[in-house]
Amino acid sequence: MMLITFEGGEGSGKSTQIRLLEKYLAGLGKKVLSTAEPGGTELGYQLRKILLTGEKPDPLAELLLFAADRAEHVAKVIKPALEKGRIVLSDRYFDSTVAYQIGGRGLSVKTVEFLNQLASGGLKPDLTFLLDLPVEEGLKRALVETKFEREELSFHQRVRKMFLKIAAQDPKRVKVIDSTAPVTEVQEEIQKLCKAKIFGKRS
Ligand code: TYD
Repeated sequence: MMLITFEGGEGSGKSTQIRLLEKYLAGLGKKVLSTAEPGGTELGYQLRKILLTGEKPDPLAELLLFAADRAEHVAKVIKPALEKGRIVLSDRYFDSTVAYQIGGRGLSVKTVEFLNQLASGGLKPDLTFLLDLPVEEGLKRALVETKFEREELSFHQRVRKMFLKIAAQDPKRVKVIDSTAPVTEVQEEIQKLCKAKIFGKRS
């Protein structure tokens, strides 16, 4: 019924906010499914291991793996849940590919947009929260170190800049949330915007 995605750099607090929002929406009587990319499916779990550990792949090969993960995730998890009337909360979706693979890795807009369209089957989020905070702070907060966290600071700064550009280009869908604020304040803002979206859709 509704796809809500969470985006942001390393250590931006997406998973905490998703957990709290899931509880809140369940309390309102909504059926919610929380999921994540990469890794929301069996195939995705295998791809995630390849993507986040070990040798750094060629950027195009990496993009194709994220696209494969997304195609499987949309087909096997997101679409079926939406068809059952669920609210789907996804930790990352196609904006991450724009931010990391275009902003971070420097792949072309044309290539990434084509693959995003293909892998998502054109399924666009109804609402996206961009949890924004300075790169240095996020990296300090990040709990597990993956290949991406080991990238240089400028990589993460390009990713952040691209996320903010996506938000500026699509302000109706993408809401920028200051993630340096306390967890409860961030959550209150998210809940307020979700409520507006859900009730706005109903009426
Ligand atoms: P994850 O451990 O899920 O990071 P986080 O907890 O920060 O969300 O690892 C996901 C990593 O993969 C993260 O560094 C961003 C990267 N990524 C891409 O580069 N492109 C993508 O399309 C997606 C979905 C993730």
